[in-house]
Amino acid sequence: MNPPIYPGRYPATRMRRNRRTAWKRALVAENRLSPSDFIYPIFVCEGTGTKTPISSMPGINRVTVDLLPEVAGEAAELGIPALAIFPEVDPAAKTPDAAEAFNPGNLVCRAIQAVRTSTPSIGIICDAALDPFNSDGHDGIMHDGIILNDQTIEVLCRQSVVQAQAGCDVIAPSDMMDGRVGVIRGALDEAGFEHVSILAYAAKYASAFYGPFRDAIGTNATLKGDKKTYQIDPANSDEALREVALDIAEGADMVMVKPGLPYLDIVRRVKDTFGMPTFSYQVSGEYAMLKAAVQNGWLNNDAAILETLTAFKRAGADGILTYFAIEAARLLKRG
Ligand code: PBG
Repeated sequence: MNPPIYPGRYPATRMRRNRRTAWKRALVAENRLSPSDFIYPIFVCEGTGTKTPISSMPGINRVTVDLLPEVAGEAAELGIPALAIFPEVDPAAKTPDAAEAFNPGNLVCRAIQAVRTSTPSIGIICDAALDPFNSDGHDGIMHDGIILNDQTIEVLCRQSVVQAQAGCDVIAPSDMMDGRVGVIRGALDEAGFEHVSILAYAAKYASAFYGPFRDAIGTNATLKGDKKTYQIDPANSDEALREVALDIAEGADMVMVKPGLPYLDIVRRVKDTFGMPTFSYQVSGEYAMLKAAVQNGWLNNDAAILETLTAFKRAGADGILTYFAIEAARLLKRG
């Protein structure tokens, strides 16, 4: 005897039917990754003709400015829309007032100029934050153990303007000072850079996953204490929405949640609440964890990379800052 038919239920309904073949799975896929989803963070250092591997980030190098055109060219060729440039500043140039941050001839400005000239089609994103330039390793100016908010914003404005003058397309305040987005917007406009965008690190958490990045730019050695007086407590979610709302009100063009995978709940809330261009940063510690497991033979490299990146899209991210950008774009090209 045939089993009874319950419309919309087993056995009439079988979810596995749509998963039966590769072509069906392709047809019903809700999200698809493309190289145009990626922003590639790169580390730049002083010198010439040198690539220095970062031991806590297997496969990632610090490169000298003269080698940037090669990196930018490859990214553009693969269809990656933008780079985020991070400098490892000579320790001798670091001071408590972070004055090197607004030196128009500093490492990050020279890196911007090199990419702008060699690869005009690629977008250039740079942090507004003082940690690479500051002898205290903090994103803001420190005085008597306190990070000064309003004094820091003045320096961030000068930093943003020199970066825009060098050819940066997007200023990304990653410092978490209060009110900085609006003041930076004003400074950029006043200097004639009303076309330069602001990508606010709007919900940036005080995370343990930034360690390898601090190795890469040499701030682990200098950082005094932690960043908990300005970055968000990982326990909080409503607070992240307030931060994002403020940055939008101050003029952010795009917003970011950081870190990535452990904070996808925040990405979803931000996307649903504000409908803004929303980005997520798969940070250095997330990269390091995955590569370490791969090196141990515990995870399949290609599958794990594409799965994590797809998860960002599913959560609502419009784009992902990821150290896997080149590798993932190559995988996607190969199909
Ligand atoms: C600094 C900055 C950090 C990252 C991007 N910009 C580190 C920090 O806040 O200490 C982290 C990126 C990563 O871990 O990949 N303002």
